[in-house]
Amino acid sequence: PPTDTTPQACLNPRPSTLTKSHASHKGSHGDVVVIGGESMARRGMGMTGAAVLAATASLHAGAGRVMLHLLDDAPCTDIPSDVMRRDWSSLSLYTSSVVCGCGGGQAVIAVMPEVLQGSARLVLDADALNALAQDAHLQSLLQQRSANQPTVITPHPLEAARLLKTTSSDIQNNRLKAAQDLADWLHCTVVLKGSGTVIAAPGQTPRINTTGNGKLATGGTGDVLAGLMGARLAQGMSAFEAACSAVHQHGALADEWPEHTALTASRLASSLR
Ligand code: APR
Ligand code: MG
Repeated sequence: PPTDTTPQACLNPRPSTLTKSHASHKGSHGDVVVIGGESMARRGMGMTGAAVLAATASLHAGAGRVMLHLLDDAPCTDIPSDVMRRDWSSLSLYTSSVVCGCGGGQAVIAVMPEVLQGSARLVLDADALNALAQDAHLQSLLQQRSANQPTVITPHPLEAARLLKTTSSDIQNNRLKAAQDLADWLHCTVVLKGSGTVIAAPGQTPRINTTGNGKLATGGTGDVLAGLMGARLAQGMSAFEAACSAVHQHGALADEWPEHTALTASRLASSLR
């Protein structure tokens, strides 16, 4: 296991290779599929906004095409016109970067096996992590993903506590260890969110992100981070690079935020580049 846990700055938020060249077309920048957003009908509260935020973030971060699969058929009117709403049967998980779980509710459980086995690149967030915490079979499918299927999980401290069967205060008192334990157990890159976000992966020295501030403590900024990370995976970064880059950029935007404008998740998503 890595012994050097010195905080390191995360990677360049936007490497020059991500610049769209003259000859490029939408297929050159990768497809992102966002899966989530259970609607009012199931839980008495709407959660489609979380998935729409993630999709909007992917789009603004430069993904070639962004497809949104909502976990039920409810009409949803606030989808940006450049995000394509897709049925389950028309998704191409095998060639896409998949962002799964934002506002997914219980409905996400049913799609998890196919997402874990089929997706080319994967970010698991929010309710996908709650589903994972309850199901050893899903944990084993995650462990079995191959090295060429880059995978990131993005728990906040309570989601990490559910996975590790402990309390969020225990996680907060041992953030580096918790992130590394999750990475080693689940064989993937882990982004343990909160002030000083930790990025850990098997065999890597963990990073502690130095950007970001309390302005991010508003609903939906986590969904924006997941969408941004999905775009970076789609653009060809490794899981660890995508995680470091997205976390750094997300925090840097909050640090540069204009003083008299409230930071909201939708504004944050729209300000990505
Ligand atoms: N300093 C730096 N970064 C912060 C701070 C802070 N003080 N507070 C929050 N952040 C960052 C986190 O690091 C993370 O990137 O803001 C983001 C918040 O993400 P989440 O905790 O996932 O919150 P979010 O999903 O936006 O909204 C809360 O999560 O658990 C669900 O159902 C719950 O609806 C709720 C939702
Ligand atoms: Mg969240």
